[in-house]
Amino acid sequence: MENLQREVFEKFESYGQGHIFRFWDELNADERLNLCRQAARLNLAHLSEIADALLERDRDAQPKPEVSLLPANYIGLPSDETTLCRWEDAYNLGEQILSEGRIAAFTAAGGQGTRLGFEGPKGTFSVTPVKGKSLFQVFAEKIRFAEKRYGYPLHWFIMTSDRNHNETIEFFGKNNSFALSNVHFIRQGSLAAMDAKGKIMLEDRCHIAMHPDGHGGAFRAFVSSGSGAMLEAQGIDMISYFQVDNPLVPAIDPYFIGFHGKNCSQISSRMVLKTYPEERMGIFCSMYGRSAVVEYTDMPMERAVERDRSGSLRFKAGNAGIHIFDRDFFTLLGSKMGGRQLPLHAAKKKIPTIDGDGKAVDPEVPNGIKFETFIFDALQFAERSIIVEGNRKEIFSPIKNSVGLDSPETCRRDQVRLFAKWLISAGSDIPIDSTGLPPFNIEISPLFADSERDFLVKWNQLDKRPAISAGSHIC
Ligand code: UTP
Repeated sequence: MENLQREVFEKFESYGQGHIFRFWDELNADERLNLCRQAARLNLAHLSEIADALLERDRDAQPKPEVSLLPANYIGLPSDETTLCRWEDAYNLGEQILSEGRIAAFTAAGGQGTRLGFEGPKGTFSVTPVKGKSLFQVFAEKIRFAEKRYGYPLHWFIMTSDRNHNETIEFFGKNNSFALSNVHFIRQGSLAAMDAKGKIMLEDRCHIAMHPDGHGGAFRAFVSSGSGAMLEAQGIDMISYFQVDNPLVPAIDPYFIGFHGKNCSQISSRMVLKTYPEERMGIFCSMYGRSAVVEYTDMPMERAVERDRSGSLRFKAGNAGIHIFDRDFFTLLGSKMGGRQLPLHAAKKKIPTIDGDGKAVDPEVPNGIKFETFIFDALQFAERSIIVEGNRKEIFSPIKNSVGLDSPETCRRDQVRLFAKWLISAGSDIPIDSTGLPPFNIEISPLFADSERDFLVKWNQLDKRPAISAGSHIC
């Protein structure tokens, strides 16, 4: 321990970060060991580069040069015979790819879910309108539906972080992995938070304030867990990526898979229409000839309000956080990438810390900076990428906040509206209001059907169709 201690102390001093040991004399042996080990794991050279870049950026906080920003091209929803045929062709190819067993699922579930304010991994949050199933159960049922349909077990990777890894595994254990046999938990990396002067922050006297390294950490976590090599050995060359907060996601979607396969794409992305200029949504744009996502915080308002001749927003291709990756591309991004790294994004956040006397501080305003990499920054490294539109009401209703927009309540309503739409398309006469919402909760299990198309087939095959009323659960 003494050697480790000396080495770590000297290293942190030399990088101007010796302050993290300022309560050393008050710590007991276990706490000292813990802090020393945590400190030894940090890549100080990397953190120091980040801190320098941060300080430099703040020093010459000049307006960013205007980048050449154009709306991204995308494959729109079918609107006539020709486009309908294209979508049908994609569906057939997707079914073929699926029957060849070439796809695995990946869920990014390592986030902290601060805005929702729920204790525990977000995937364990109860979300469905009648049965109150967790987000993880909804995805598990979607995967089981695909397994039954295509006749083999799918691999499902769940990315966790230090803060929720054990709890996530326990949850799956308690639920017998929802009857799935190929669930893999891979843990993403973490980074230290810094204050505005580039100093590493402490969470308490003996813990550095760490946070998960962003959904872009998926690439490295995937490679370091050996998952890329395992998929390669099994001939699985596509990864269907989605995020833990959106129960409407078509997790295994033949249309999207077909478009991806047809275009030999390295990254395919799903877009949904942005509804108003101020909406907090990343936008697919074209920058210097390549697709990119511009975060709402970086989109100049004068561009966000631009409209085209038909009156719709010009920059309207909202990022739904749904992608399909080519396995080799995914793996490349998780390895050294020939020296190229995903960019780090800095965000000012409220970070629980301690004051000079070691007393806990729960800040009311942002007091530090977190650094993250983003999954969609993979776009800038792709030679072949496509963007495919999805019907927002059918594929996107994330739970971000505890109340208001993108909350459990809006998500419940969106699910009920969608189920009602499927039933009405099948000839049911359930009452709905002008927004398509019935006056009671209903639920359709993904084990019964995971899309309107599948629902209509299954429903029409039923000998006896159930009467629909408050609390109906079709499974
Ligand atoms: P968000 O950007 O909504 O972040 O993540 P969050 O951490 O879940 O929530 P807030 O901002 O603290 O309220 C979008 C998706 O990316 C995953 C999340 O789990 C969610 O599925 N994510 C985010 C990770 O897997 N790891 C991360 O480091 C960050």
